[in-house]
Amino acid sequence: MKIGVLGAGTMGSGIAQVAAQNGHETILVDVNQEMLNKAESALDKILNRLVEKEKISEDDKINIQGRISYTTDLTDFKGCGLVIEAIVEKIEVKHDVFKKLESAVGENCILASNTSSLSIASIGSALKKSDRIIGIHFFNPAPLMPLVEIIPSVQTSQETLETAKNLIDSWGKTTVVCKDTPGFIVNRGARPFYGEALRIYEEGIADFATIDWAMTEIGGFKMGPFTLMDYIGNDVNYAVTESVFAAFYYDPRFKPSFTQKRHSEAGFLGRKSGRGYYSYAEGASMPEPNKDMKLGQMIFDRILAMLINEAYDAVHMQVASAEDVDKAMTKGVNYPKGLLAWAKEIGEKEILNRLEILFEEYGEDRYRPCVLLKRMAK
Ligand code: NAI
Repeated sequence: MKIGVLGAGTMGSGIAQVAAQNGHETILVDVNQEMLNKAESALDKILNRLVEKEKISEDDKINIQGRISYTTDLTDFKGCGLVIEAIVEKIEVKHDVFKKLESAVGENCILASNTSSLSIASIGSALKKSDRIIGIHFFNPAPLMPLVEIIPSVQTSQETLETAKNLIDSWGKTTVVCKDTPGFIVNRGARPFYGEALRIYEEGIADFATIDWAMTEIGGFKMGPFTLMDYIGNDVNYAVTESVFAAFYYDPRFKPSFTQKRHSEAGFLGRKSGRGYYSYAEGASMPEPNKDMKLGQMIFDRILAMLINEAYDAVHMQVASAEDVDKAMTKGVNYPKGLLAWAKEIGEKEILNRLEILFEEYGEDRYRPCVLLKRMAK
C-alpha cells in the first residue's frame, strides 16, 4: 500500500520513516520545501547511524531512502491507501487541508490525523465521505515509541478502523483503540501525574526535588513529574493541560496550575530554555530532596491514587478497555505498571480509601472517587 504523510515536521518525518522502513512507498508532503530538505537530511543521518550500529544494512538504507519521495504537491498522494496528516494543530487549517486531501486521493483512501488534542469528528466533518476519517496518534519520536492510539470517531466505518489498526499492528507497533474524547488515553490518563504533583508543591507539602524523588525512588517511575515537565517543556505541557481542562467542560480534576503557568510565562520552559523547575545551566547542581520516607510515601500514595482514579474513569466512560488503558500508560509514557493492574495489586479498597480521605478533607470535586472504583472496591 502506498502511504502518504502530510507535514514534514517532528511527527510527520518520523511517521514517514516508520512507513518506509516497513516496506511502503511513502510520499511526504509539506508546504515548506525547507522542512522537506531538513526531513530528508535528518533521515539520512538516522539511517547512517543505524548502519553504523549494524541495525540495518547499507542496502536497507538505500531501499528505505528510495521509498520516500519529498514533495510540496499534494496531488502526489494519488494512489495512496492511507494518508496521515501531521501539520499544525489548528482546526481551521485541518478542515481546509482535509478537503484538499479528499480531492487528491481515490474513493478508498483512509484519511487519518495525528492530532493530539482536536476532535476526530470535527476534522472528519470536512470530508464528503467521512467514514474514512480516523485518528492515528503516534508518540514522539515516532520510530522509537511503540504505542499508537487508534481513534475511530462517530463517522468512522468498521472497515476503516480494522484496516488502519491491522496496518499499524503490522508495523510492529502496539495499538490501543480509544474513543474520540479529549486527550484520548495517554494525554488524559497522565494529567494527574503533573497536576497532583503541582498541587502538592503549591500547598507547600514538599519541593520539586522531594516530589520527584518520591515518584522515582518510592514509585519506580523513570522520571519525576517536575523533571518530566522540564523535559517536555512547561509551555507545551501547560497547553495540553489547559486544552484537556477546557475540553472536559472545566472538570476540576484537570485544573491547570498557576505555578506551571508562571514558569511558562517567565520563559522557564525547562531543558530547552536552560531553566525550568530546575536550572540546566552549566555547572548547576540539582537541589537535594528531603528523603523523609513517610513524607515520600504520602506524596507517592496521593499521586498514584489520582492516576488510578483517572484510569478507572476512562474505563468506566468506555474510552478504552482496561487492558488498553494499562497498555497505553506502560507503552506510551513508560509507567512502571499498568494503573488498573497496580490498583488490583495494592487493593482497590485501599485506593478508594485514600481518595475518600482527600475528598472528605478538601471537599473538592477534583477528589471524587470514580464510581467504577467504588463498585470494584465493594
Ligand atoms: P511541527 O511544527 O514539527 O511540523 C508541522 C509541519 O507541518 C511543518 O513542517 C509545516 O511546514 C507543515 N505544515 C503546516 N501547514 C501545512 C499545510 N497546510 N500543508 C502541508 N504542510 C503544512 O509539528 P509536529 O510537532 O510534528 O506536530 C504535528 C501534529 O502532530 C500536530 O497535530 C500535533 O498535535 C501532533 N502531535 C505532536 C506530537 C509532538 O510531540 N510533537 C506528538 C503527537 C502528535
